[in-house]
Amino acid sequence: MSDVPVIADLAAMSVWSEAARAQGERIVLVPTMGALHKGHLSLLTEARRRAQRVVLSIFVNPMQFGPQEDLAKYPRDLAGDLAKAASVGCDLAFVPEAASMYGAGHQTAIDVRDVSQGLCGARRPGHFVGVATVVCKFFNIVRPHVAFFGEKDFQQLAVIRRMVTDLNMPVEIVGLPTVREPDGLAMSSRNAYLSPPDHQRATALYAGLSAAKALVDKGERRASVLLAAATTEIAARVDRIDYLELRAADDLQPLQIIDRPAVMLVAAFVGKTRLIDNLRLG
Ligand code: PAJ
Repeated sequence: MSDVPVIADLAAMSVWSEAARAQGERIVLVPTMGALHKGHLSLLTEARRRAQRVVLSIFVNPMQFGPQEDLAKYPRDLAGDLAKAASVGCDLAFVPEAASMYGAGHQTAIDVRDVSQGLCGARRPGHFVGVATVVCKFFNIVRPHVAFFGEKDFQQLAVIRRMVTDLNMPVEIVGLPTVREPDGLAMSSRNAYLSPPDHQRATALYAGLSAAKALVDKGERRASVLLAAATTEIAARVDRIDYLELRAADDLQPLQIIDRPAVMLVAAFVGKTRLIDNLRLG
């Protein structure tokens, strides 16, 4: 199987999309930072089912990394990514250079206020501004009809939905469930940083969320009880819990009691690696 064709040039990308649109074809965009795993591939596979043209973007976006974060060592494997993308029938990989995405004099940033507050927004200042800005740029360059994102990054998905609504962007946003390892660990490019024993410890995140879900399934509704159960499970094996919270699934408002669809979200350090996960409850 041959690899997926690659476009790096922004103008060439737009020309490709215009030609597809002129033929009445529906374009799906799956934005990623590469180092593709089964979570990314599930988005591409579903995209393939839903549209004639599937565009994968691969771009390690400097604007969403903090100065102390892992931009330089973020895993990169373009050749492997293109082979994996081909295996699920992707039509095109858009792989721009940072210098062409953020040319000299780039000044504009998109701040999606409320839903970017707290959780990862509090721990990673500027992160969601970087995410929203780059995703908006991708929408303008690729002009997809639909874009697919994973619920693995639950707050990110909420930020993007809010941006698209607020700015009247003509693109449909689809969120897909988290793909996990058989042991429950959510697939993530950052799992590559984990040694086998650390991988084992990292399964505590999903174990903790699942413990809370088991209580909800038995009728428990109090956030304090649910968070305590999850904390016991997670704190026993990770090095540090960064946050563990119960929020409303739609607008991410904090919940004391589950009286509407809810999600429990966690970030924790295993060694130096910061991992996130979440689970819908109730
Ligand atoms: P990245 O971390 O590469 O993730 C790309 C997409 O894959 C995101 O929508 C993410 O939620 C989804 N994804 C990651 N792990 C997943 C899993 N285990 N199951 C299902 N989906 C999963 O998220 C980003 O890149 C960037 O912030 C980006 C949106 C591309 C903007 O730069």
